[in-house]
Amino acid sequence: MDRRTFLAMMSVVSLSSLSAGRAESSTTKISKPIPSSGELVPVIGMGTWITFNVGDSQRLRDKRSEVLKRFFELGGGMVDSSPMYGSARSVVGEGLRKLEYPEGLFSADKVWTNSTAEGIAQYNEMQELWGLNQLDLVQVHNLVNWQSHLETLREFKQQGKVRYIGITTSHGLRHQECEQILQTQSLDFIQLTYNITHREAEQRLLPLAAEKGVAVIANRPVDGGNLFNAVQGKPLPAWAADYDCQNWAQVFLKFIVSHPSVTCAIPATSQVEHMEENMGACYGNLPDAAGRKLMSDYINTL
Ligand SMILES: NC(=O)c1ccc[n+]([C@@H]2O[C@H](COP(=O)([O-])OP(=O)(O)OC[C@H]3O[C@@H](n4cnc5c(N)ncnc54)[C@H](OP(=O)(O)O)[C@@H]3O)[C@@H](O)[C@H]2O)c1
Repeated sequence: MDRRTFLAMMSVVSLSSLSAGRAESSTTKISKPIPSSGELVPVIGMGTWITFNVGDSQRLRDKRSEVLKRFFELGGGMVDSSPMYGSARSVVGEGLRKLEYPEGLFSADKVWTNSTAEGIAQYNEMQELWGLNQLDLVQVHNLVNWQSHLETLREFKQQGKVRYIGITTSHGLRHQECEQILQTQSLDFIQLTYNITHREAEQRLLPLAAEKGVAVIANRPVDGGNLFNAVQGKPLPAWAADYDCQNWAQVFLKFIVSHPSVTCAIPATSQVEHMEENMGACYGNLPDAAGRKLMSDYINTL
């Protein structure tokens, strides 16, 4: 067992022990295993689309460094980015350098191009932008030229340039094709949209990922921020306290990561206060099936 896996295991709390004691459970970080290795990742990661694409403004770059800093202070792990996100990876890289590469970092980037050669160039570029010799996870963004990129990424994995490989989709798109890929290819991760109002993945992809031993990253976990509009001004129902939810963000995120097939959710934020709310979902009780139903029934009435 390597050091990273050992450290992650030290921080895990098994779902069955979550109800053992409120005081204890609310301070213990929730992590889940990557099925292909058993390595644990905290159930709340972070996205960088739009929120970290702040260009050259040093003031904004410094502000995003603060968001990143708070993420790691609160036990965060996975940071997800892509060549599609403009300056986001350079902003993440700058923040990581300032933080001297926190122990918990799990770097997740993507290739996003029709060209095989350009895919290789994108891999080299990501090493430079993140300042890492080895990426933890490289995913084929939106299935673009996935056949060719998966071949390259498999070679990179063998050479130790990347630890895990995967594919992504979002907004419920191309689920049938994802299903075929899960059936025929060997993957470590799939990333897809799953949140309390967009639950298509429950039909086929989530059960299939579990069957195939593929980790699931839930993107758009707060539906791009739209979920907060739906509950604006509404107090938390009494049951929220049973699941250690102190705000709506934690209800939305705990609904997602309590699904047995989901490994982690990656909410994106530009604000330290929102990061604190989101990371709160990485601690305390998770809802069981009855709790998940209470949550979704409530949202369905709005
Ligand atoms: N195909 C793909 O591979 C794909 C597609 C989509 C997304 N992704 C990944 O998934 C990540 C997450 O998805 P997303 O960024 O589309 O949507 P999201 O995380 O569901 O929503 C982000 C929005 O929610 C707001 N927000 C976050 N936490 C909040 C809180 N506690 N309170 C109030 N507002 C909050 C943010 O605003 P503030 O900045 O004001 O907090 C931001 O506008 C992306 O950043 C990206 O890394 C991948």
